[in-house]
Amino acid sequence: MHQNGATAIAIDGPAAAGKTVVGTRLAKKIGYRFLDTGMMYRAATVAALDAGADFEDLKQLTDAAQAIEIEARAAGDGTTLIFINGTDITSRLRSHEVDSRVSIVSAIPRIREIMVEAQRKLAEGGGIVMVGRDIGTVVLKNADPKIYLTATLETRAERRFVEMQDRPGQPPLEEVQETMRKRDDIDSSREASPLRPAEDAVIVETDDMTVDEVVCKLSDIARRVVS
Ligand code: CDP
Repeated sequence: MHQNGATAIAIDGPAAAGKTVVGTRLAKKIGYRFLDTGMMYRAATVAALDAGADFEDLKQLTDAAQAIEIEARAAGDGTTLIFINGTDITSRLRSHEVDSRVSIVSAIPRIREIMVEAQRKLAEGGGIVMVGRDIGTVVLKNADPKIYLTATLETRAERRFVEMQDRPGQPPLEEVQETMRKRDDIDSSREASPLRPAEDAVIVETDDMTVDEVVCKLSDIARRVVS
């Protein structure tokens, strides 16, 4: 239950800071919907790969993103499945191929416009936890609270490496860290909606915290607006 009908909680931060796992659990705990906006940029990247787009050609990338319909469906186990034009592409979203290209796609202003519009529509009515890079600064400027989840590059790379280690073709830790560093650099230095904490964001450093502890901390922060 939430008191202020239009409440939205924004969680932003760099790669593998734990936004998805923590955001999903927080949303469940307080009865809010959950949207991982990174999945939308990743889906646009899968579409560009499938279209054989040249990743140096912004028009080809934009055309590929505009040609698809992205749909999120809840799976029975509480996770979300992502479909492009009716085909389930969820298992491809976190591939190394997508990791190393998604920041090129997400830096394109026209693609961001399309995604942000869709995200704002999905937030109508409130009662949503939305995670990404620009939720508190651009997408939902009225979100309350705004949380910026972070940890050192080393911690985050290690977490992502462990999470992905059973995947075929998983690169070594050093490569995971290097891909993540490059992605963070592009995300923070791009002109369109760069990654940065909103002025009124609560910054949560998660290096020495378990997922349970972060969920508890965020629930405490959210208690102000959620009854
Ligand atoms: O899970 P992880 O933090 O590694 O990444 P993600 O949240 O799935 O986001 C993948 C990429 O999408 C990011 O590196 C950004 O380039 C882009 N992104 C963005 O630009 N804006 C958002 N609101 C969400 C993601």
